[in-house]
Amino acid sequence: MSRVPLANLKPALDACRAEWQGALLQTIDRAWFILGDEVASFEREFADFCHAPHAVGVANGTQALEIALRLSNITRPDQEVITSALTAPFTAQAILAAGATPVFADIDPETLLLDPGSAESRLSPRTAAIIPVHLYGQVCDVEAIAALAAHTGAVLIHDACQAHGMAYDHRGPAAFSFYPTKNLGALGDGGALVLGDADHDRLARLLRDGARAPGHVSTQRALNSRLDEIQACLLRVFLRHLPDWTAQRQRLAALYDKELSGLPPEWLRPVAWHPRSTHVRHLYVIRVRRREELIQHLQANGIGTGIHYPVPLHRQPAFPNINSCPIADQACGEILSLPLWPYLPEDDVRSVCRQIWKFYLGSTAGTS
Ligand SMILES: Cc1ncc(COP(=O)(O)O)c(C=O)c1O
Repeated sequence: MSRVPLANLKPALDACRAEWQGALLQTIDRAWFILGDEVASFEREFADFCHAPHAVGVANGTQALEIALRLSNITRPDQEVITSALTAPFTAQAILAAGATPVFADIDPETLLLDPGSAESRLSPRTAAIIPVHLYGQVCDVEAIAALAAHTGAVLIHDACQAHGMAYDHRGPAAFSFYPTKNLGALGDGGALVLGDADHDRLARLLRDGARAPGHVSTQRALNSRLDEIQACLLRVFLRHLPDWTAQRQRLAALYDKELSGLPPEWLRPVAWHPRSTHVRHLYVIRVRRREELIQHLQANGIGTGIHYPVPLHRQPAFPNINSCPIADQACGEILSLPLWPYLPEDDVRSVCRQIWKFYLGSTAGTS
């Protein structure tokens, strides 16, 4: 492992070890592992946390998105779903899994979030849904995107897999991932669908569990996508710490902003943050020149980095595509994620920044 890895779950686990060990033992002693009290309690607590009436625990964020599409019967290839060209491939895999066709729109050149203008240019009579992705922890321009959806009758579904705790409105279902490195991460896979509508809540519960009526009779095509009791009991513990962990991420991101300011923006600039929303700082992403050399330099100095994501979805072989997304193409060649996790020592942030200054200027002038 790098001296300063891109992500490190251990300090957060250590910080609440007694709590999760106790919860785990109680859950195991109860000897009920699927769809029991822990999942039900977590669903209530996560819905409250999101200021939403309903949350349904599922197996992962990809299937939360798939179920959200199925809730609106978006299951046929002639139904198009517009989403961002810059996201995890799972966003589009979920669209394929539901049976619909992904259509990629370009991104805003500053925030790298779905550009409402580009999304508008992709509208067609076949548009059935729009999935804005709240990438890196920053909320999209939901007003503009919701207006587009309303204009065409398309369903709005939020990919909130990287945005636990961000303030967005609930004009459509929101899908969350609890992949371990997310701001709220399980110790394995997990996900949730947050809903405003009681009928959708009932249907989502059916769809995650084989659409079983009493007597083990499946009443419609469905998934097996259940959050399990062990993950739910851990998530309940971690959820109590999430506001503190988010505040830590925000503080560390502000420190990166400060330490990196002064570098020429044509060499390095952080991805812009729109003042419209809070930013829960899932990832700290910069745009850089000479990315590969910088990665090598940081690696040689024990600093881990990542690229989220190196290949835009309109260029991935799994997905059909007829559109160009030049801004996503350019961004994917420049973006770099720096280490960010709760309890990351501030001195480590400073030392990452010192190494970046050194790489570009051959000195550490400008850092504290
Ligand atoms: C933006 C985005 N969408 C969807 C997913 C899929 O979530 P999961 O890995 O829980 O299926 C992820 C996580 O990798 C993600 O970051």
